[in-house]
Amino acid sequence: MSTPNLNLSRRMRRLRHSDAMRQLVREFDFNIGDLIHPIFIEESLTESLEVSTMPGIQRIPEHALAQEITELHRLGIQYVMPFGISHHKDSVGSDTWHDDGLLARMIKTIKQTCPEMMVIPDICFCEYTDHGHCGVVEDNQVCNDQTVANLVKQSVCAAKAGADMLAPSAMMDGQVKAIREGLDNAGFEHVAILAHAIKFASSFYGPFRAAVDCELSGDRKGYQMDYANIRQALQEALLDEQEGADILMVKPGTPYLDVLSSLREKTNLPLAAYQVGGEYAAIKFAALAGALDEKKVIFETLTGFKRAGADLIVSYYTKQVAQWLKE
Ligand code: PBG
Ligand code: ZN
Repeated sequence: MSTPNLNLSRRMRRLRHSDAMRQLVREFDFNIGDLIHPIFIEESLTESLEVSTMPGIQRIPEHALAQEITELHRLGIQYVMPFGISHHKDSVGSDTWHDDGLLARMIKTIKQTCPEMMVIPDICFCEYTDHGHCGVVEDNQVCNDQTVANLVKQSVCAAKAGADMLAPSAMMDGQVKAIREGLDNAGFEHVAILAHAIKFASSFYGPFRAAVDCELSGDRKGYQMDYANIRQALQEALLDEQEGADILMVKPGTPYLDVLSSLREKTNLPLAAYQVGGEYAAIKFAALAGALDEKKVIFETLTGFKRAGADLIVSYYTKQVAQWLKE
């Protein structure tokens, strides 16, 4: 049979011939310096406890935090985002702004163990309130302005303890402005803000709420964003930029790559994506069932975040990726 002449002016496959050729023209890549590792620390816990909704992820007892940080650092991880599991919950989450509270203790322990490890705590109340909402509740509503005042107290407390950057996630209006002013007035103008600028009310947070023992009944639709909206999402992000955010984050990650990529066109700030607990769980359980090649899928998702416009990524797979990169 004779070969037909297709007369092609361009053959795209020329650039896919070999691994070397593919590497030469590759547009996006990620490395360990792009990844923030969230960790769960529980006070008065004796032994590590696997999170049932997120196999492979542990709740680390507070007494073992220093050891975990040493290991993460040895693996080349440079950024951690601590989440506390509190045994001192109350109606407002006051433990978060006490100098000897769990949040302050976690930050101090990490910085004392490893001063080079950047600590980027989540700044919110839902792990520290007995009702599980992200702030002060009155008449079944989360009060914006009172919650913002408490977020400022928590932020200054975290900065005093040694936090390098804060990641406010409560989705209260004006929180970035108030936190920036609070930090500046307290002499922490060098502490950066990684704003949860666009945080959708998402069912992908389910596994995380089990991980941190969040007591929430109901939902957060009164303050987190409706996932059907993209113009409003961009408005949220641009407000946080005006209020002084240093980095803007979109959360969750994979279902919202369109939002990330639209935001990339609207701002020159660095952008972050958060691959949340539900994304982790979906991939992990599929991998455990033998349906997915875990490593290849994770590399594909992380590259996807970069391609969509993220400069950095928060992912529960960070520790595993660090191990894979060392293999
Ligand atoms: C707290 C907070 C949440 C997450 C990060 N910070 C939960 C929520 O809003 O319910 C979600 C993280 C994840 O799902 O991995 N405001
Ligand atoms: Zn919260």
